[in-house]
This record gives sequence, structure tokens and C-alpha cells, in this order.
Amino acid sequence: MSTRTIIITGASRGLGAAAARIAAGMGANVVLNARSADDLASVAQDIRDAGGQAEVVPGDVSQPEVIRALVERALARFGGLDALVNNAGVIEPVARIADADPEAWQRNWAINVHGPFMLTQAALPSLRERGGRVVSVSSGAAVKPKGGWAAYCASKAALNLFTGVLALEEDAITALAFRPGLVDTAMQTLIRERGAAGMLPDEHARFVNHHRAGDLNPPELAGRALAVLALHAPHEWSGSFVRWDDDAVQALVEERAP
Ligand code: NAI
Repeated sequence: MSTRTIIITGASRGLGAAAARIAAGMGANVVLNARSADDLASVAQDIRDAGGQAEVVPGDVSQPEVIRALVERALARFGGLDALVNNAGVIEPVARIADADPEAWQRNWAINVHGPFMLTQAALPSLRERGGRVVSVSSGAAVKPKGGWAAYCASKAALNLFTGVLALEEDAITALAFRPGLVDTAMQTLIRERGAAGMLPDEHARFVNHHRAGDLNPPELAGRALAVLALHAPHEWSGSFVRWDDDAVQALVEERAP
């Protein structure tokens, strides 16, 4: 099979960077996006140093010109597109509904929902040609309300339903929403350090305790599942919300990237 090409957003750090390194290590060409150009360039350089192929398109996923540039770069550099990983996401505003800034809400949705919509739409013609995959990184917060997280919970629930509709409409591709579990990234640091004001006290304490107890996984665990799903998820799973540690997902990981 010819080398496959994946776009991954939010790839400068955390889960996205881990998935990018692992996908490239599995032989895929990766086209990476995030806001911070320097960090993104350093992830891409690591991949090239390890013998992989990486391109970068820095910028904000809520901007249509960034979306266009990402798809154009993948096609111009690698001649096609096999997978899209909508990973870029933000948790803020962490605030009660009564207090939340409407502009911050809009910004959250522009990144967490509208960006994935625009990028999926731009990528679809190429993905259809190759029977490609769209994996959108969701969260347990999509199915469990948390005080202070209304913008985030609602945006991730929207991403799950977006995935379901995408699967119904696009039989030629495979669409998944992905639940990465508790991952030790900058987002978890932000929750611990800046979440107390907006969250319910017991829920905030739970996140602090998870960290203390060492419950957070390194990004490579969910990152490996994410890379394997983007490259190998079976079409029968299209439309579903899968956990990184589902038995079937881990069986696929064992088979494809032991
Ligand atoms: P992170 O904060 O470490 O990384 C987020 C990445 O997204 C960074 O590369 C950042 O530059 C990028 N990003 C943020 N806004 C962007 C924008 N407007 N345009 C382009 N890139 C942007 O967070 P983490 O944890 O790696 O998050 C990745 C995904 O995993 C997110 O969608 C998050 O909601 C999800 N997630 C994370 C969990 C965790 O425990 N860390 C749990 C459940 C879901």
C-alpha cells in the first residue's frame, strides 16, 4: 500500500504531538497544525530526524485560510489525503453559565466545533477518493456534565453528533469520535491551576487528586490509539464514539502498532 497522509491539528504538544510522532513512525506522512509555530516546527523536525515526512501549517483552526492551507499543503506535497485528526481543542471558558463571557463561549465553539466542521468539509473530496477517515478528539465531558465546563461539554457533545451525521452522510469514509481518557497535558495543568474559580469544588478537587495519585496517562497511550484509528479503523465503526482503551480499539492497536 502506498504511503498514507494524515492531517493532525493541535500537534505542537500533548495528545496531538504524540499521535503525530507515532503516525509518522508507522510510516504515514503527517501535515501538522497548531497555533505555536516554534513548537510545531520542533515536533516536525523530530519526526524528520527520525526519518519521517512532516509538513507544518501553523495557524488557528477557526480561520478559513488556515483550513484551506492545510488541505492544499497535504495535496501539493503528498498528492492525496487519507485521514484527518481533529485534535485541536480548548477547555476555556471555565466558568458557570451565569458568569461566562459570551465571546469566550463563541471562541471555544469556533475552535472545538466550527474548525473541525470546516476542515472536514475541505478534506472530504480527497478523503472520499481514498476511503479515508476523520477522527475527532472528543471527551468524556461530551456525555457527562461538569459544573463550569458548559462551553466545553456542549462543544464535545456537538462533535460527537457531528461525527454521527458525517457517518450517515458519507458512506465512502469512516468517521469516529475519540475519547482519550485522562491525559497528562497542558490542558490538565490548566484545569488544576485555573479551574477552581469556575468549577464545582468537589469536581476540581477530583482533578487535583487524579494528578497527585498519578492517574493521568502519558500522551503516548491515547496517542497510539488515535494514530492507529486514523490509519486503520474499520468502516463498521463509523459514527461511533470510541474510548482509547476499549477492548476492540486496543486489539487494533496490538495488531497494527504493537
Ligand atoms: P493541549 O492544550 O496540550 O494541546 C492542545 C493543542 O491544540 C495544542 O497543540 C494547541 O496549540 C492546539 N490548539 C489550541 N487551540 C488551537 C487553535 N485555535 N488552532 C490550532 N490549534 C490549536 O491539550 P491536549 O490535552 O493535548 O488536548 C488535545 C485534545 O484532547 C483536545 O481536543 C482536548 O479537548 C482533548 N481531551 C484531552 C483530555 C486530557 O485529559 N488532556 C481529556 C479529554 C479530551
